[in-house]
Amino acid sequence: VPDGSDAGGTTAAAGARVVRAVLLAHPAGHSLSPVMHDAAFAASGILGRYQAWDVPPAALAGAVARLRDDERLWGANVTVPHKEAVAALVDECTPLALRLGAVNTLLKRGGRLVGDNTDVEGFARAMAELELDLRAARAVVLGAGGAARAVVAALQDAGAHVAVANRTRERAVRLAAALASGGRVEVLHAGAVAEAVRGAALLVNTTSVGMQGGPTGSPLPEGVLPREGAVVDLVYRPRRTPLVERAAAAGLIVQDGIAMLVHQGARAFERWTGHPAPVTVMRAAVERELEP
Ligand code: ATR
Repeated sequence: VPDGSDAGGTTAAAGARVVRAVLLAHPAGHSLSPVMHDAAFAASGILGRYQAWDVPPAALAGAVARLRDDERLWGANVTVPHKEAVAALVDECTPLALRLGAVNTLLKRGGRLVGDNTDVEGFARAMAELELDLRAARAVVLGAGGAARAVVAALQDAGAHVAVANRTRERAVRLAAALASGGRVEVLHAGAVAEAVRGAALLVNTTSVGMQGGPTGSPLPEGVLPREGAVVDLVYRPRRTPLVERAAAAGLIVQDGIAMLVHQGARAFERWTGHPAPVTVMRAAVERELEP
C-alpha cells in the first residue's frame, strides 16, 4: 500500500507536489476532483496531489499508457467522454465495470491496470445518507447515460423496482437490456412518466438538464413530482437545480449531486491509497468551491 514515503522528492514539500492520481476527461477544466482529492491527500498525511488531464479522444490511449508506465501515478478517474472507451485500453475490468459497461476509476494491481467503477457504491452511500428503505420501493430514474446505469445498478442492488425514462427511449431500452441480469428494469413511455413519478418513492435525475451551461428547465413536465418521498438530482452546479427547488418547496426530501460526487471520489481514493477516505474533509472542500 502506498503511503507517500516513496514520494520521490527529497523534501516533504517536493513530495507533496508529486502527482499521484489524475482525471482523464475532455473538457477537464471545471472538475471539482482536484480540489476534493488534494484535500483528501493532505488530511490523510499522504504526500501527493491530483491533476486533471484534458484528454481528447484521440489522445486517450497515450494517456492510459503514460498512467501505466509512470510508477509515481497510483490511478485515475475517468469521465465524459471516456468511460466506455477506456475499458478496451486496460489490462482487466472488474466484474462491476463489465456489468455497467463503464469505467470511472483506474487503479494498479500487481503491475496491471484495472478498470473499476465506484459510481454504484457512490450512489449507494449517497442513498444511505437519506435513510430510505428502498426494498420493494418504486424508483424512477430520468436519463439513460453512464450515470443512469450506475444509479440503476445501485437501486437494483438495494431491491427497488426501477423504471427509467429517457428523451431517447431506445437508449433506455438498451440500458434495461444491459442491466437485466441485476433485475427487471421498466422502460417508461413518454406518456407514462408523469403517473410513474407521482407514485414513486424516489426520483433520480441523471440527465444534464438544469446544469449550469447545460439544457435549462426541468427534466420533468411542469408540476409533476412524487406525491411523497425523495428527489435526488446528480447535478451539483448549481447546488440546487430548479427540480430540487421545486421538490423542496413541495416538502419532499431532497439531495443534490454533491453526495454522489463525494462518495464516488471517496471510494476511488480508498482504492488508490488503501487509506480510509476523509469524507467530511472532501465534502467541505467541494462545498467551499461551489460557494457563490
Ligand atoms: P452521463 O454519463 O452523465 O450520464 P450522458 O451519457 O451524456 O452523460 O447522458 C446524458 C443524459 O442526459 C442522457 O440521458 C440524455 O438524454 P438522451 O439519451 O436522449 O440524449 C439526457 N439529456 C441531455 N440533454 C437533455 C435534454 N435537453 N432533455 C432531456 N434529456 C436530456
